[in-house]
Amino acid sequence: MNTNGNRVPPGPKGLPLVGMALDLRRDPLEGMRRMVRDYGDIVHFQVMGQDRILLNHPDLINQVLVIQQAKFHKSELTRRITGRMLGQGLLISEGDFWRRQRRLVQPAFHRSRMAEYGATMRDLAQAHMRGWRDGEERNVGQEMMGLTLNIAVRTLFGTSLPGEAHEVGQAMTFLMRYSLRRQRLPFRMPEKWPTPNNRRANRELEFIASIVYRIISERMAEGNSNHTDLLALLMGAMDEDGSQMTPQQLHDEAMTLFIAGHETTAQMLSWTWFALSGNRSAERKLHEELSSVLGGRSPEAGDFPRLPYLRAVMNEILRLYPPAYILARETVQPCQIGGYELKLGSTVILSQWITHRDARYFDDPETFRPERWLDGLADRLPAGAYFPFGAGPRRCVGEGFALLEAAIVTATLAQRFSFRLVPGYPVVAEPLVTLRPRQGIQMTLHARS
Ligand code: HEM
Repeated sequence: MNTNGNRVPPGPKGLPLVGMALDLRRDPLEGMRRMVRDYGDIVHFQVMGQDRILLNHPDLINQVLVIQQAKFHKSELTRRITGRMLGQGLLISEGDFWRRQRRLVQPAFHRSRMAEYGATMRDLAQAHMRGWRDGEERNVGQEMMGLTLNIAVRTLFGTSLPGEAHEVGQAMTFLMRYSLRRQRLPFRMPEKWPTPNNRRANRELEFIASIVYRIISERMAEGNSNHTDLLALLMGAMDEDGSQMTPQQLHDEAMTLFIAGHETTAQMLSWTWFALSGNRSAERKLHEELSSVLGGRSPEAGDFPRLPYLRAVMNEILRLYPPAYILARETVQPCQIGGYELKLGSTVILSQWITHRDARYFDDPETFRPERWLDGLADRLPAGAYFPFGAGPRRCVGEGFALLEAAIVTATLAQRFSFRLVPGYPVVAEPLVTLRPRQGIQMTLHARS
């Protein structure tokens, strides 16, 4: 692990062979928290014979994501978990290829496009709740997934998905559970073995890929020249030598943005309704702000700076329920972190779930309290203490889009409905690829007069 005087960061020994695998399988979030509680801000542990270093100090996190970022790549672990779905898309590609692809998609997220996106987001949010009735129960997990999928497909790909949103959500849930379960097996089971799970995973992957391919082929048939959306940028992309992206690359990028573009924001919105249902005073303040600033009209992208309480609610949701709750990196050069020498190929783990609930940076950290963000907390926090969208060059390319979407959807729906958790419904955070409510969140809708 180290090259310097045999020093290895402190950490639990775990069981022979499996190391901490069983502990982390039982409850990964609590398991990681216990490690930092017991061993401090830099913890060494093993899973199935592989070394991992968990970092929980803002300075160390900032070293990995920003200051020494060139010495790290996305980890093999990340590639194994997401690679089958996302191929070599932006989320996991590296080096010059990543740089070129990032430059390519960036214009689709430019500030100048936000007013147009905001209007589409609002229209789709309004259309989505048209079928909702006062007093009925709905699973807001599914509802938010359907809505954010429609928004991503309409804004980024210029089309719509009649009736498939629900199936996409179910396929994603299965694939995330499947990918994580595979990583926890004591041996690498070939994906080609015809086990029921492998077969289902192939079917679900093909189903999602078929949607992405259909979107691409519709655009090819229609012609790209009248469009300026993300798909148009991807399809029009030329290499310096004049060749276009290969169909596989186009598929990987489109698939990455299709998935990254809706899943995380759906989770953020679901947690928002859950948290507001449990904190009536925050909900009341949000309603008051919406009615005093918007006076009953629909929200627009330009309203966002005048809705500080809404922004505080969003910050607080991303603190307590960060959809991306863990990041992993691997050293591609030896480096020094926290006084320890990390050898080539070491896996480093950072967790928003843990750091965002650290009492050194957030008072009363387990409590949902949007007010904490109203007096400039964001500016006072040290770099690396709050990183729901990551940091450094690999920071989320869709951050502005996601924040706008969460703001527009929250403002649009909250003006018309309050959501109340169905008593006794079990809401448990399930750490899959993203942090999701295990069985969604069953809520009663109350129309606001
Ligand atoms: C609340 C919503 C979102 C959260 C919490 C989130 C979080 C993140 C985080 C933490 C990363 C960095 C990963 C790492 O450093 O390893 C990331 C990267 C990325 N996100 Fe997001 N994201 C959200 C929404 C979106 C949206 C809406 C899109 C696209 C429309 C998107 C597309 C991407 C892409 C393509 C990357 C990879 C960027 C790169 O490596 O250059 N994300 N996201």
